[in-house]
Amino acid sequence: MLREGGLVAIATETVYGLAANALDEHAVARIFEAKARPFFDPLIVHIASRDWLNRLVSRVPAAAEKLAAAFWPGPLTMVLPKTDLVPDLVTSGLPSVAIRMPVHPQARELLQLVDLPLAAPSANPFGQLSPTCAQHVAETLGDRIDLILDGGPSQVGVESTVVFVTDDSVRILRHGGITREALERVVRVDDGATEVAETVAAPSPGMLPQHYAPRTSLKVLQDRAELADVSAQRIGALLLTVADNDPRFAAVEVLTTDGNLATAAANFFAALRRLDRQQVDVIVAYPFPDEGLGRALNDRLSRAAH
Ligand code: TXA
Ligand code: MG
Repeated sequence: MLREGGLVAIATETVYGLAANALDEHAVARIFEAKARPFFDPLIVHIASRDWLNRLVSRVPAAAEKLAAAFWPGPLTMVLPKTDLVPDLVTSGLPSVAIRMPVHPQARELLQLVDLPLAAPSANPFGQLSPTCAQHVAETLGDRIDLILDGGPSQVGVESTVVFVTDDSVRILRHGGITREALERVVRVDDGATEVAETVAAPSPGMLPQHYAPRTSLKVLQDRAELADVSAQRIGALLLTVADNDPRFAAVEVLTTDGNLATAAANFFAALRRLDRQQVDVIVAYPFPDEGLGRALNDRLSRAAH
């Protein structure tokens, strides 16, 4: 199917992806159509071998070598200068392409069998919650795509970390499955967005202020006291541990028993999806600790808020 230009939803360790042959512009166009994704939002290209990296990327800086050695296969996406082999549609006309080598065994096996790079954004309609199991994909895109490969629940649960790579450092374009702390053990992490805006030429749309959103309005409360300001009748709550529970909550999703952020990430999108179905007037959540995977979770929360 993929060789013939089909659209296949695939399991990865982060979230499910909607995959097509990255070298086939027609197939890639179908991804944008199925997701109703704007063409200015570039796609991540998934590979299983170093061989494909060398064909898709014109130069691999030293920092990229170090990152690949440390985190590939895994939830890290590197934005690197592209070769002419990569269609402009994949990169939205940018001179750089985002490349990731997933670690999920089914995704790896598929990439090796098909021996093509696969462009794959998260398999959800644009702006909505990311899917972390095959059922989520079936519910929202099932009638618009050719096949869903069920690889079980996604173990990481938040998208890959996207970094813009220069010779000796990176800038984080999107927080995700590889934490900033882990990156810092391998390369220098630069702060600030100005140079990214110049070099990347367009903002990374995973950075759009509203994204990853449930249908129900979501409010991020700074603390328990702010709950008093919420006037809604039926309140749903997304909580890290049961200690944050409150008698006012009509529906509750508790992400962990012990506050472990990896567990919270793995449960995050499925829990939000369940709350979205509870017919509550508002969903409330408290910020996660601002460290490790908590950064990616806080980023998703702030973009889900509306
Ligand atoms: O974990 C993931 O990354 C998942 C799985 C399926 O691999 N994919 C994913 O794709 O989250 P998507 O399309 O939802 O997010 C891709 C992010 C967007 O924020 C996009 O703007 C950024 O990567 N991106 C892609 N190509 C880029 C480029 N050339 N320059 C800057 N940002 C880029
Ligand atoms: Mg997405």
